[in-house]
Amino acid sequence: MLNPSDFIKEAIENIKETVGDGKAVIALSGGVDSSVASVLTQKALGDNLVAVFVDHGLLREGEADYVKDTFEKRLNFRFINAKDEFLNRLNGIEDPEEKRKIIGEVFINVFERVAEEENAKYLVQGTIAPDWIESQGNIKSHHNLALPHGLVLEIVEPIRELYKDEVRILGKELGLPSEMVERQPYPGPGLAVRVVGKLTPAKIDICRKANAIVEEEVKREGLDETLWQYFAVLTNTKVTGVKGDIRDFGYLVVLRMVESMDAMTADVPELPWNMIKTISSRITAEISEVTHVALSVSDKPPSTIEFA
Ligand code: XMP
Repeated sequence: MLNPSDFIKEAIENIKETVGDGKAVIALSGGVDSSVASVLTQKALGDNLVAVFVDHGLLREGEADYVKDTFEKRLNFRFINAKDEFLNRLNGIEDPEEKRKIIGEVFINVFERVAEEENAKYLVQGTIAPDWIESQGNIKSHHNLALPHGLVLEIVEPIRELYKDEVRILGKELGLPSEMVERQPYPGPGLAVRVVGKLTPAKIDICRKANAIVEEEVKREGLDETLWQYFAVLTNTKVTGVKGDIRDFGYLVVLRMVESMDAMTADVPELPWNMIKTISSRITAEISEVTHVALSVSDKPPSTIEFA
C-alpha cells in the first residue's frame, strides 16, 4: 500500500471519477472492511453514499447499537430491521451451505429494495485481497451486478488490493476508533455459522450469550489484540450434565480461538488455562441450556475456522 494518506487521496479521486454525482449504496456490516470502505467512500461522495445496515437477527449481543452509535453521525446511515424476514426463511434449514445461500438471497432482496428506494446506481463493497484471491482470483475489478429484481449496480471496490493489516492502518488514518478497527472479523451470516443444525430463536440466543461471555473474558485477558478470532459455537450435540443435584441433558458448546494473518490458514495457540476455565464456568452457570464446554484445538487446515 502507498502511505495511508496518499492512498486515501488517490482513492477519493478514483471514487469521485467513477461515481460523479451518482448515488451509491454500501452494505455496512460493522466489520472492519465495510466500515473502512464506508468512511473512505463517504469522504468522496458525502451523503450520496447511503450506508445500509441490515439487522438479520443473527448479530452479536449489543452489535446493532454499537454500529448505530459508531456510524449514525459519520455517515448517511440507514438501519433496516429485517429479523423476521431472515428467520422465517431459515426456519427448519439444517445444511450450512443452504443457510448461507438463504441468508445471501434474503440479504440481496432486502438490499435491492433499499437501493431502489435510494435510486442508487453504484454499489460500494469492502472487498479486500483475500476475498477474491480465495475465490480463484477471477473476479474482475470493474463489473456490474444485476440484482434479482432487475436493478443493475456498478461495483466500486476501493480497498480491493489491501490486506487486513493495511485496512486497519487505513481505518485509523480515517479516524475510526481503534477499538472498531481492531475488531475481530465477524462472518456476514453472523451467528448462523456458529449454530450447528437448525436455527431457532432459542438456539441463536444461547449462542449469542456464549459469544458475549467469550468476548468479555478474552478482552479481560487482553488477548483480543493478538487473537484473530475468538468465539463460541453451539453444537447440535446434547450431553448429560449435572447442575446442583439434578442430572440435565443440555447443549455442548465449543470454544474456538485462533491466530491467523488472513483466515486462509489458522493456528490454535496455547491459551491461558484460567481464562478457559472461567469461560467454561460462566457459560454453564449463566446459560441454563448448556451442560458442557469443550475447547477446539484444530488448526486450519484441516478444519475451517467456523463450524457451520
Ligand atoms: P472458514 O470457516 O472458511 O472462515 O475457515 C474463514 C474466514 O471467513 C469467515 N467466514 C465467513 N465470512 N461469510 C462471511 O462473510 C461466510 O459465509 C463466512 N464463513 C466463514 C470466518 O469467520 C473466517 O474469518
